[in-house]
Amino acid sequence: MAGESHDIQGYIAAHFCRISSFVIRISPFPSLDPGSLAGPRIKYLDFDVSYGSNEKAKGMIVTTKQLFAHAYSRYAVGAYNINNLEQTVGLFRGNLGKSDSNSDATKPAVSAPFIIQISRGARSYSDKRFLEAMIRAAEDVFPESIFAVHLDHGTEDVCYDCIGSGFYSSVMIDASHEKFEKNVEITKRVVDRAHDKGISVEAELGQLGGVEEDIMGSECLTEPDQAAEFVAKTGCDSLAVAIGTSHGAYKFSGGQGLRMDRIAEIQKILPKCFPMVMHGSSSVPKEWVDRINAAGGKMPATSGVNENQYLPAAQLGVCKVNIDTDGRLVWCAIHREAFRDDPANFDLRPPGKVFIKAYADYIAHKNSKLGSGGQLESLRACLKK
Ligand code: G3H
Ligand code: 13P
Ligand code: ZN
Repeated sequence: MAGESHDIQGYIAAHFCRISSFVIRISPFPSLDPGSLAGPRIKYLDFDVSYGSNEKAKGMIVTTKQLFAHAYSRYAVGAYNINNLEQTVGLFRGNLGKSDSNSDATKPAVSAPFIIQISRGARSYSDKRFLEAMIRAAEDVFPESIFAVHLDHGTEDVCYDCIGSGFYSSVMIDASHEKFEKNVEITKRVVDRAHDKGISVEAELGQLGGVEEDIMGSECLTEPDQAAEFVAKTGCDSLAVAIGTSHGAYKFSGGQGLRMDRIAEIQKILPKCFPMVMHGSSSVPKEWVDRINAAGGKMPATSGVNENQYLPAAQLGVCKVNIDTDGRLVWCAIHREAFRDDPANFDLRPPGKVFIKAYADYIAHKNSKLGSGGQLESLRACLKK
């Protein structure tokens, strides 16, 4: 509501109570262990249960709604896309401050909750089952982690596939290219199905510049009044808003940047503590573009979102910041350099190892800019209540 002050502590307390009682009754992930009610199902709500039982401790998959209740107006959760093993390992390590190896000590001061994003392109790059298997393995290898598994830019059919999988804890339905009423209609159908299983739904209103998966977008910022109406009509859990960003490496040609004024206007009119999502948030660091070009690449001069705007945006209610392109730049620079510097090498593992470390360090750096670094233990404590 416009002008209303946001009572964050009260909101978090009320919100977590609601989530806990709801999920205990209806397991959002029934396929995890159909034979056991007391073990894995409760484990997803109370990490102590799995630590204290005979069962091996595993990382905790939570919904984005749970993550946002903790983050709202204080920090943003990084949502990172994965496509392969090296990205997955680097992502988990980076979020736990494990720079060099899986067995490094976790560093609570930098550890962060995070969101693993899986696009339709990622699901078809190899086979969606490989992605699930890798993440399941990461749950075992990194038992301290807390994260959501999220479908990025889903169509209605792919959302239903993910909702039915028993694995995804969150889906994005992207019908933003449709007219308002049609977007509402499609989103509402997905929300109804997802909520039946305790899964969170992100929707999108407005259009980013650039390319959204196979959809070419011409920028069309989200209108605050429409945003409020859309949320009320669909019941979605978070809203991706168009606020000046675009996907990919070529975002801004001049001095443009995030439309903080528009974020503030939308926040004022949305329901109290309603989470916004920012797509196209890579910063496209000059350092990485220069490294790519110095190693034979041909990327034109470009710029991305200023990392120092992540926190101010988070303070205005942006809870999820989507980053994919930056990870690709790190991958590209490391591999180009490796083959330039050792042209006789044909083993994929040496550059792979360097990439995993560089990506882990980069994730830790991003989390420090998002304010999520150092929040993992506080979130864990809230989830236990
Ligand atoms: O928003 C799009 C993401 O960066 C995913 O990209 O469809 O190439 O996997 P992708
Ligand atoms: P970038 O292209 O800026 O990394 O954005 C990724 C994204 O929005 C994924 O949904
Ligand atoms: Zn996106």
